[in-house]
Amino acid sequence: MKVLVTGSSGKLGKEIIDMFRDRNIESVGVDLTAADTTDKQVDIRDELQLNKLFNGVSHVIHTAALHGKHTDLNVPREEFVNTNILGTLNLLNLSVQHNVDRFIYTSTTSIYGSAMVSEKQAIWVDELLIPEPREIYDITKQTAEELCKDFHKIEGLKITVLRVSRFMEESKNNIANYRLYRGLDEQDGAIAHFLAATNDFQGFEIFNISNKSPFQIDDLEQLKNNPKQVILKYYPGAEKIYRAMNWDFPTSIDRVYDISKAQSKLGYTPRQNFWELINSSQQTI
Ligand SMILES: NC(=O)c1ccc[n+]([C@@H]2O[C@H](COP(=O)([O-])OP(=O)(O)OC[C@H]3O[C@@H](n4cnc5c(N)ncnc54)[C@H](O)[C@@H]3O)[C@@H](O)[C@H]2O)c1
Repeated sequence: MKVLVTGSSGKLGKEIIDMFRDRNIESVGVDLTAADTTDKQVDIRDELQLNKLFNGVSHVIHTAALHGKHTDLNVPREEFVNTNILGTLNLLNLSVQHNVDRFIYTSTTSIYGSAMVSEKQAIWVDELLIPEPREIYDITKQTAEELCKDFHKIEGLKITVLRVSRFMEESKNNIANYRLYRGLDEQDGAIAHFLAATNDFQGFEIFNISNKSPFQIDDLEQLKNNPKQVILKYYPGAEKIYRAMNWDFPTSIDRVYDISKAQSKLGYTPRQNFWELINSSQQTI
């Protein structure tokens, strides 16, 4: 097994490379920018340079992208299209040319977009919810997913798409709140990629990858209007910890990412869920 990982200087890519290195599995980290986890500084938009890296590669994990923070920076649409769509197309073409066994594409739960909006209740987000992209980032990630599907259909490339949830740099309070329903620890994200690469799926699969939410479908209405009550139903000890940390509970919860498909088919068991996170935060004060 030899794994080519794009975006290896990024937050998620670094964790993925470390995971393969820890297991003595050969990896090639590819990124525009330098890092300990990056072996080759190559632009995924440059197919000729990329081609030189594919010798003996059996697996591709494609995390490199322009993403949400670049949308906030008003990066032009052309750059999103070139990196997220044409960059992915280059990698898919080369994977076919070099007989790559398996391709893992890092997508985003953000593509569900407007389908996650309701005045009345939180939305249950499983893989059957039809994506409704809201902006250029979502549009390019969804299009890249469609390209993956097409390469599976026409060329027979085995592809797994992981729609990962949020793992941004933000306040600990936000991270804790999001971990309840829409957040991901990047090490758990890396585990999901490792499982997808080492699984023997023969076809095209899509999985939501997030931390484990305690919430159930019956909670959706109350989550929208009075989430604190629902949170304390599952974690009565959270009130004391939030008070000690001077944190606020969310005032409304709009969605719940369902990871049950990844749990049952991929064997994904996230470790840094809400309770583990708030307990470890409390121990640091
Ligand atoms: N961070 C999040 O909250 C989040 C949420 C959902 C999905 N995702 C997805 O996860 C993936 C990784 O996100 P991250 O937060 O680790 O991002 P990041 O910005 O930390 O890392 C992305 C890496 O890709 C590299 N890159 C960008 N353009 C490139 C190019 N043309 N050629 C080579 N390398 C290039 C960047 O240099 C960077 O190191 C992305 O595909 C993103 O869409 C991220």
